[in-house]
Amino acid sequence: MNLAVLGAQWGDEGKGKIVDLLTPRFDLVARYQGGHNAGHTVYVDGAKFVLRLIPSGILHQGIVCVIGNGLVVDPVALFAEIDELGRHGIDAERRLVVSDKAHVILPYHRDLDLLSEARRGERKIGTTSRGIGPAYEDKIARRGIRVGDLADPETLEQNVRDNVLARNRLVHDSTMDWREVLDDLRAIGARLQPMVRDVSLMLAEAMRAGQSILFEGAQGTLLDIDHGTYPYVTSSNASIGGVCTGLGVGPRAIQGVLGVVKAYTTRVGEGPLPTELTGPMGTRLRDSGNEYGAVTGRPRRCGWYDAVAARYGVRINGLDALALTKLDVLDGLEQIDICTAYRCGGNTLTEFPSDIAQLSRCEPVYETMPGWSAPTKGVRRFSDLPENARRYIARIEELTGVPAAIVSTGSDRADTILRDDVALPALKNLVIE
Ligand code: IMP
Repeated sequence: MNLAVLGAQWGDEGKGKIVDLLTPRFDLVARYQGGHNAGHTVYVDGAKFVLRLIPSGILHQGIVCVIGNGLVVDPVALFAEIDELGRHGIDAERRLVVSDKAHVILPYHRDLDLLSEARRGERKIGTTSRGIGPAYEDKIARRGIRVGDLADPETLEQNVRDNVLARNRLVHDSTMDWREVLDDLRAIGARLQPMVRDVSLMLAEAMRAGQSILFEGAQGTLLDIDHGTYPYVTSSNASIGGVCTGLGVGPRAIQGVLGVVKAYTTRVGEGPLPTELTGPMGTRLRDSGNEYGAVTGRPRRCGWYDAVAARYGVRINGLDALALTKLDVLDGLEQIDICTAYRCGGNTLTEFPSDIAQLSRCEPVYETMPGWSAPTKGVRRFSDLPENARRYIARIEELTGVPAAIVSTGSDRADTILRDDVALPALKNLVIE
């Protein structure tokens, strides 16, 4: 039974923790898009791991982790992560597989990312400056360098020379030496080689042999290049369609879809965020939720739970259930608002607008619910939650349209409520180790 776990908001929903706790149920964990712009924070026995490119499943012995063709891979960042895991006794290199069709992020992609943001001025996206967008630009323009090319000296030399020279023409005063870039790539390519595979074939064979796969999303639905708040998005398909294109599997390989949502809303970078709280309540959520980017350290913008946006996530991804995270961050609040609809130009909208200009004009319509004073932090049984917390979850389920199969009440693996009354076959009889 394969399961996709993806973000149904603007990213940073807590996917790392959810993937980590579900991993023992699966044989493989496969990422399908993005790059080291992601930052999946996982705490195991008090130790903190931030995984950027490597699937969070790597923390579990015996699990094979896959980097699909849909990713853009910065090999320097990849090996930095592998080496960091090695210092914690985790031999990632032996359990990691990288698609030959994944595209490579080169030093000039990072420069172009910074340049493009500077040129946009006030209209900047607020990217993570990792070169993600420019690497995907090269892919779509059919001049990208793929992981498989690293083993083909002729193609590699030609592509690196052409690309570096083109970039030097684009960036004023740039004299980047293509031979240096090539030498670095050759060295790193040799180290990468033992991990490189035809991922689509490998996954097909694994499924044929009865193995199960967890498909791990990065970023979130509202940052999806097609379905997100364009242009304030990342450059890949973070939503469910990315699983098929980013790994080379058919749609029937996905047998369940779990959407991770935070009990409130956050966003990092620019772009509309209808429920954003700019006053003391925004600060309160940011401080209690430690809402600072795992990759860039940037403070995240915070707001109330937006059921309109979450419902959109249900529609785009065909979600079966939610994993509701960070409930404990709301502990102690007297009142909690939930956005049930938007007001826009005298109309009430219950569906997420397709037009970003309209979305920017939307005001949230709130329903206020009573908070709870007893802590939910660390609670592991649904019946042990304060009554108002249970009511809040029930209202989220009602407004969002799918049940919450998992509720997370703290950063540790064990601080998790599994709802056995919520049937999601891929989660049946799950035990948290
Ligand atoms: P890029 O992916 O670096 O090009 O950034 C594009 C947008 O996506 C920016 O608003 C980033 O802040 C946002 N973004 C990229 N990765 C993440 C993530 O893992 N979590 C949250 N936001 C992200």
